[in-house]
Amino acid sequence: MPDTLIDAIQLRYACREFAADTPVSADELASVLEAGRLAPSAFGLEPWRFVVVTDEAGRAAVARACYDQPATTTAAALIVIAALVAVLEPDSDYVRARFAAEARGQDAEPIHAAYRSFYHAGSMAEWARGQCNFAAAQMLLQAAHRGLGSCPVGGYDASALAAAAALQPGEVPALVVALGRCRHAAPERIRKPLG
Ligand SMILES: Cc1cc2nc3c(=O)[nH]c(=O)nc-3n(C[C@H](O)[C@H](O)[C@H](O)COP(=O)(O)O)c2cc1C
Repeated sequence: MPDTLIDAIQLRYACREFAADTPVSADELASVLEAGRLAPSAFGLEPWRFVVVTDEAGRAAVARACYDQPATTTAAALIVIAALVAVLEPDSDYVRARFAAEARGQDAEPIHAAYRSFYHAGSMAEWARGQCNFAAAQMLLQAAHRGLGSCPVGGYDASALAAAAALQPGEVPALVVALGRCRHAAPERIRKPLG
C-alpha cells in the first residue's frame, strides 16, 4: 500500500483488465466512496450521486452501456457518477439546503446571489459533469492508496448508461469508475514534461 499521496498518484494508472474472481471488499468500496464524497465542488454544490453496481447483471448492463470495454466487463465494482442537473435551478430546495450548509450559520444570501448571476440553464449539465470529475479523481487516488486498480470510463452511450444505473430524471451520467484487482503490471507511464 503506498505510504504517501505522491506514491499513490505514481501508482495509479488506467487498468484496462481486472483479474477474475477478486472482489472489492465493502470496506475498500466505502473508502473510495468517502474519498468522492469529500471532493471539492464549485459553490459547494456537490452536484453528484454515486451509484454502486456490484451484482453480475447490473455490471453487465453498465458494461454494455460502455460498449463492453474490457475495463467494465472485468471490473468487480462499477461506480456510476451521476451529475445532478435539474436540482441546480437557483431556487430549488437542493440549492437552498447546500447554501445553508455552506454558510455555516451565517447569511447564505451573498453566495446565493453570486450563484444566481452565474447560473445559466443551458450550460449546467456540462458544468455539473465537470464537477463530478473532481469526485472521480479522488476516488481513483483512494483506490490506488488501497491497492486497487481502477479505470475512469467516459466512453459510454449516455441513454443506455442512465437506464442501466436507473438514473432519475434530471440526472445525467458523468463518468464510470471501474474497480478491481488489475490483471497486468502497470505499463510505462507516458506524460509530457512540465513547462
Ligand atoms: C474523463 C476520462 C475518461 C476516460 N475514458 C476512458 C474510457 O472510456 N476507456 C478507457 O479505456 N480509458 C479511459 N480513460 C483513461 C485514459 O485513457 C487514461 O487515463 C490516459 O490514457 C492516461 O493513462 P493513465 O491513466 O494510465 O496514466 C479516461 C480518462 C478520463 C480522465
